Amino acid sequence: MSDEKFYYPPQHIIDNAHVQDYDALYKHSIENREEFWAAEAEKLEWYKKWDSVFDYSRKPFFEWFSGGQTNIVLNAIDRHLQTWRLNKLAIIWEGEPGDVRTLSYHALNREVCKFANILKGMGVRKGDIVTIYMPQIPELPIAMLACAKIGAAHSVVYGGFSVEALAARIEDARSRVLVTADGGWRRGKVTDLKSIANEAMRRSPTIEVCITVKRTGHDVVMENDRDFWYHDLAALPIASAKCDTEVMNSEDMLFILYTSGTTGKPKGLVHTHGGYSVYTSTTHRYVFDIKDEDRYWCAADPGWITGHSYLVYAPLINGSTIMMYEGAPNHPYPNRWWQMIEKYGITILYTSPTAIRGLMRFGDNWVKRHDLTTLRLLGSVGEPINPEAWRWYHKVVGGERCPIMDTWWQTETGGFMITPLPITPLKPGSATRPFFGNEVKVVDEHGVDVPANEEGKLVITHPSPGMARTILGDPERWATTYWSDFAKQGYYTAGDSARIDEDGYVWVIGRLDDVIKVSGYRLGTAEVESALVSHPTVAEAAAIALPHELKGNAIHCYVLLRNNITGSRELEEQLKEHVAKEIGPIAKPDAVNFVDALPKTRSGKIMRRVLKARAQGLDAGDISTLEE
Ligand code: PRX
Repeated sequence: MSDEKFYYPPQHIIDNAHVQDYDALYKHSIENREEFWAAEAEKLEWYKKWDSVFDYSRKPFFEWFSGGQTNIVLNAIDRHLQTWRLNKLAIIWEGEPGDVRTLSYHALNREVCKFANILKGMGVRKGDIVTIYMPQIPELPIAMLACAKIGAAHSVVYGGFSVEALAARIEDARSRVLVTADGGWRRGKVTDLKSIANEAMRRSPTIEVCITVKRTGHDVVMENDRDFWYHDLAALPIASAKCDTEVMNSEDMLFILYTSGTTGKPKGLVHTHGGYSVYTSTTHRYVFDIKDEDRYWCAADPGWITGHSYLVYAPLINGSTIMMYEGAPNHPYPNRWWQMIEKYGITILYTSPTAIRGLMRFGDNWVKRHDLTTLRLLGSVGEPINPEAWRWYHKVVGGERCPIMDTWWQTETGGFMITPLPITPLKPGSATRPFFGNEVKVVDEHGVDVPANEEGKLVITHPSPGMARTILGDPERWATTYWSDFAKQGYYTAGDSARIDEDGYVWVIGRLDDVIKVSGYRLGTAEVESALVSHPTVAEAAAIALPHELKGNAIHCYVLLRNNITGSRELEEQLKEHVAKEIGPIAKPDAVNFVDALPKTRSGKIMRRVLKARAQGLDAGDISTLEE
């Protein structure tokens, strides 16, 4: 190891870290995987301990802690009420207009119980799937916890998604109950969630009851017999602040979360109570070195896996005080985040490369006018962080005192898979080493390890406790998408390309499939294409990702118009708006190009690779399968 390539953590961070010797514990965790995870599981509460730690008799379907009984709420709330943490702050929330709400664990429990009783009163039963479509307000985690408490699964749809995305997810989950809000605040404007929800309910009619939380107070359309205001229900006697936590089996469904894949239909990944509780809390405790005095801020939206695992569940299981903020990072000024870090004494900040690049653009002075010395650790997630942004984050935000935890993981893995610990010497842009219990390899198409520094497919050799168990209603797709490329070796295929350097550090390069990471958000080319084709002027469409300075990637589309329709600037704008309206503003293409033909294979598959190469002025590689 030559010294100059590493950033070393400060000595006091090393001295106080939970894990002191990565190599030794890593070796132990790989050689005694079940023992390692059982020891971590012992740190949580169970109604009944497990019969077996790991069961892989139905490959590639696996179980962790089967026979065990728990509920994530038992660990995230109930157990804290028996300790001094009863009156510790669980949530500090700031709205974009500047309103503040705080909830102790005691208060959070009362709110969750009320919400849970209301859901029960609306007929929600164990095993049902409740769809939640909300802005970043405390009722979002409260609704999630309320579902979990009564044994219902939640399906949170990100509040930035729009009609088609919401309707498709409601339909796939066959939700009877939708929880939403009248709107939220974003850049000084109201995001009109209720109107989108109304349109989505019209398109997918499984919803019988819609509960709406009042946030902004603007006028919304409520339908008799279907729509209820949350505050009206909360005033009824059924909404008592006492509610028993349902006893769940380890492998019972906790939530589903939809994510994009290679086909148009989003996949509902199923996560469960037991293994997920153990995995997320362990990774969070060791990687962010959680101490009781921390004030921890994960700036992701709860609508994504980062929000589920590391804004809501893991920090609450670890008894942390979490920060939540409703709005845009640069509203009203680009110092909004830095102001809140100073005001609340935040000690850990976990965000995305896109957010960092976006704030870096405004210059150092917005940061420097605030005292950020409470910060101890920083985190990054969602896409590879470019070394320039890493260095800025480290120097300007972290004052060169705060190691950056660049965590690589996925909706599918539930928690961090490759990540530094606070003691790890860092290299900007590398997620460093695997977390305990995980073996990570970079292989060629036959599953053979490639030499150091060579690019290949990123695989994980063994199921971990926090991984999803299946795809809702489509177990076959779970098996073929993730476990069939290297079935002989039993590897999990991540869908990313990567290389491992001479020090064993992993460098993730990007997606190998038709998934596009825009501002760290995951979208499928197929979703964008089907949105385009749903427009009456479009016959065929192809979407590709091209590099973008701030967003990481931007969406560029190629459109073949229907007969007798000619492209124009206006139509280009219309189509961009159409995609934004159907899927959500994050999916709005940067460019729509009109073409006479799309490059296709003889079997009719669009060769996006050819479009991408041409757009970048590169060689398209092997085009022997291209149709004339
Ligand atoms: O390509 C990788 C990228 O995000 C993908 C997973 O996206 P999603 O399921 O939305 O989960 C994002 C939040 C966990 C991965 O396949 N990715 C995530 N984190 C990193 C990353 N790429 C590089 N470095 C990371 N730290």
